[in-house]
Amino acid sequence: MAEVYAGAVDKGLEGVVACTTGISSIVDATLCYRGYRIEDLAENSTFEEVIYLLWNDRLPKAEELSQLRQQLNQFQELPGPLVQLLKEMPTQGVHPMAWLRTAVSMLALWDGESQSTEAEAQHRVALRLCAQVPALVALFERIRQGQDIVAPRPDQSIAYNFLYCLKGTEPDPELVKVFDTCLILHADHELNCSAFSARVTASSLSDIYSAVVSAIGALKGPLHGGANEQVMLMLKDIGSLEAAKTWVKEALEQKKKIMGFGHRVYKNGDPRAKILRGMSEALTKKSGEPHWYQMSAAIDDTVQAEKGLLPNVDFYSATVYYSMGIPIDLYTPIFASSRVSGWLAHIFEQYSKNRIYRPRGEWVGREGLAWKPLDQRT
Ligand code: COA
Repeated sequence: MAEVYAGAVDKGLEGVVACTTGISSIVDATLCYRGYRIEDLAENSTFEEVIYLLWNDRLPKAEELSQLRQQLNQFQELPGPLVQLLKEMPTQGVHPMAWLRTAVSMLALWDGESQSTEAEAQHRVALRLCAQVPALVALFERIRQGQDIVAPRPDQSIAYNFLYCLKGTEPDPELVKVFDTCLILHADHELNCSAFSARVTASSLSDIYSAVVSAIGALKGPLHGGANEQVMLMLKDIGSLEAAKTWVKEALEQKKKIMGFGHRVYKNGDPRAKILRGMSEALTKKSGEPHWYQMSAAIDDTVQAEKGLLPNVDFYSATVYYSMGIPIDLYTPIFASSRVSGWLAHIFEQYSKNRIYRPRGEWVGREGLAWKPLDQRT
């Protein structure tokens, strides 16, 4: 134990096992949610089914899934007074993740069960959060564009309603399926930075909203969820397939990080990136802009050849969202719209076997200083 601690100082807790978990596992290049491989879930499940799986440790039966969908539909409508207040908040020059962090915090004020420690009330809070985080992201865009707010359809999935409320038009069923798969792929990822943040906050026995707001703050950073947005900005900056290889080589020579590459845990590739790569290829063709995929593939080859690094979930998801006509700064809020389901599973797991997180810091500062009055300080 002492050896692990010594190795972890200032190393981002690399190699530290901070808790036991039964939610998702990563073994080499295999990711499972509750024992099911991500490839199988992406191919065969829906996001709602995955939410049920993450929270209940088993796949739902037909009537359980139908009940969950009904509950999520029922809870997706945002409180009217909150929407009014959100309309007054700044959106121009504001990062949507900063707006979302604030909006989710405000949402708690309209949730009479936000402070409850009773299991059924906490389950309803979780349902509300899963339904309302994507609704908030779509609302942000409508407000930012000065467009009318679109009410969600009560008989539709989270994926459908996100696209419908974002654009205000009936979404292409193929894109709904693609988006649903993206939500599945992003739903959980063992003890990632934001899930850990959620667990740290929950470990003080703080409320669910506080833990989710902590997680949103952690996800926002470019080394975590914020990378997907940076990937698309990088592709735009590079501009053409011809420029891609040289751009990457120069960036690596300058010791710059290439967004969407590398991972603390996966050293032999991220299975989600493989699935998203295929989706990116198909969708960029469908949208008539295959060069975004071609550039991505060229960058992928170059980073692998030059640095031995493989793409992570954020690399090919960028061109998938871009091909769907989603504004670039909404990519990370979309990540949050999915990952909230995993955060909630982690918060409940933390509550169920809690001990407060309280690591130690190794002292490297000065010692034994003598206090001096203000007028004697130099
Ligand atoms: N581009 C270029 N070099 C990278 C890199 C990247 N994306 N990711 C890691 N490296 C290099 C580091 O510079 C370091 O090289 P060095 O040993 O020559 O100094 C080495 O690989 C180890 O990287 P490190 O940052 O210590 O790994 P980590 O485990 O602490 O960080 C990430 C993991 C994901 C934060 C890191 O790979 C990264 O910053 N990636 C880009 C951001 C991103 O895509 N985040 C989303 C993660 S899902």
